[in-house]
Amino acid sequence: MSPRKIIIDTDPGQDDAVAILLALASPEDVELLGITCVAGNVPLHLTAKNARVVCELANRPDTRVFAGHDRPITRALVTAEHVHGKTGLDGPALPDPKMRLQDAHAVDFIVDTLRREPSGTVTLCPIAPLTNIAHAFNRAPDIVGRVREIVLMGGAYFEVGNITPAAEFNIHVDPEAADIVFRSGAPITVMPLDVTHKALVTGPRLEAFRALGTPVGRAVAEWTDHFERFDKEKYGSEGAPLHDPCTIAWLIDPTLFSGRRINVEIETLSPLTRGMTVADWWGVTDRPANAMFMGDVDADGFFALLTERMARL
Ligand code: BDR
Ligand code: CA
Repeated sequence: MSPRKIIIDTDPGQDDAVAILLALASPEDVELLGITCVAGNVPLHLTAKNARVVCELANRPDTRVFAGHDRPITRALVTAEHVHGKTGLDGPALPDPKMRLQDAHAVDFIVDTLRREPSGTVTLCPIAPLTNIAHAFNRAPDIVGRVREIVLMGGAYFEVGNITPAAEFNIHVDPEAADIVFRSGAPITVMPLDVTHKALVTGPRLEAFRALGTPVGRAVAEWTDHFERFDKEKYGSEGAPLHDPCTIAWLIDPTLFSGRRINVEIETLSPLTRGMTVADWWGVTDRPANAMFMGDVDADGFFALLTERMARL
């Protein structure tokens, strides 16, 4: 099978960085057409810089990186420096990127690519607030039916929330954008906290990255070591959840994950539960399914895949 053409929409973020590395390390599975950046974990100028830092770390300065929107559709930006550090990529000291940002706006790139490539061949992988994707769908409704699939990290059902008691960060930051995407009719696969909180970088898994003895292996170990502190304190967990790479791992080996096709709607009105993913996991409504909502991951298999792929870079 030929590799899936993908666009990663991202706000790096240490876990975003690992997702980008996984895609770059897996050319037989995914062809990375471009990386589109958005404001999220940190402001846009930093996410657009960090994406290029990661591409250069992987020795892939030829990767096309685009800057997109610097704020959610209607709300003030909420960031997560308390998790990811001031730069968004705190951990190892990495050089400033030399590669240039592309001139085009991220949304133009998404629209143009979906119109240019054969219909049903491009997969969108948003691992950040859904602002860029929603703007693209608003501006060019004709592209929605051309999307092969949206494989996104966001939301939660059993785990409920991480940035508020009721909401996961990516959806909370721009719930109006998430609402547009979940109502769009495009095929959606969701990696919620229910899955990603099982993909924990335990001590031995972190040491396996470090033991690769490469700049990439060391960076992955130090990144996860950095944001591990936050999750250990908050959840008392064994290590940091590697949220965003779950999307790319699913494209490479979907057998690692299991879930249900269900209806998912986004709370946009209540200040208390803003950005909650109201997921009908138990099928208690007759609302039609609009997403494949994952619930479980073979964590050992996931980390074996990740370590094997990181060793290639
Ligand atoms: C999501 O929020 C960000 O902090 C992470 O990069 C991930 O995309 C997890 O809630
Ligand atoms: Ca992210």
